[in-house]
Amino acid sequence: MLPKILVFAGSNRTGAFSGQVADVATRTLAALGAEVTRIALIDYPLPIMDQDLEKEKGIPENAVKLGRLFAAHDGILIASPEYNSSIPPLLKNTIDWVSRISRDGEKPLRPYAGKIVALCSSSDGNFAGIRGLYHLRSVLMNVGTQIISEQCSVAHAHEAFADDGSFHDERTTRAMERVCQALIDHTRLAKSR
Ligand SMILES: Cc1cc2nc3c(=O)[nH]c(=O)nc-3n(C[C@H](O)[C@H](O)[C@H](O)COP(=O)(O)O)c2cc1C
Repeated sequence: MLPKILVFAGSNRTGAFSGQVADVATRTLAALGAEVTRIALIDYPLPIMDQDLEKEKGIPENAVKLGRLFAAHDGILIASPEYNSSIPPLLKNTIDWVSRISRDGEKPLRPYAGKIVALCSSSDGNFAGIRGLYHLRSVLMNVGTQIISEQCSVAHAHEAFADDGSFHDERTTRAMERVCQALIDHTRLAKSR
């Protein structure tokens, strides 16, 4: 069976580099034989995590929708920018809300359980957003996902993309292929257990 992979970016910015990286990942995963769902967090707006709000109104429907999507896929690929060397608030807020889910009505729902995750980053600077991925790894470990070691980080992202959306640089293209192949291999292994 084809591994089902969910792909999204940690930025809603118009023309976001991380969105462009997520698009490359989507095409690469599909070419390698995965069944890919590409979503954008802008379609799932969430309030800032607030336990009073949670107590009063429950977990927002968009978080539950995301939780169902996470649970319905074997693996997740996240392409993120870094903000002040760490996780952008959009992404952290999304991870936090989804981490509050344990049920969907009468049924148990564990969005992160057994999920294999691959990470990519990008930045217009030299560091390629790589420092933020250490924090992102740590948070995603905490919620119970398995994060693969391969990652693809794109430096000087403002000049990294060709007109057709692919990477100019062959090395970055190969790095993305390695990440996507490793994610597919790990999800297949996890499903076979
Ligand atoms: C609050 C804030 C903090 C930032 N901190 C960093 C940083 O630590 N390292 C970095 O490379 N870029 C940093 N940037 C620049 C972002 O990498 C850049 O805006 C990037 O284009 C955002 O990602 P996106 O294109 O996916 O939206 C920061 C931007 C903002 C708004």
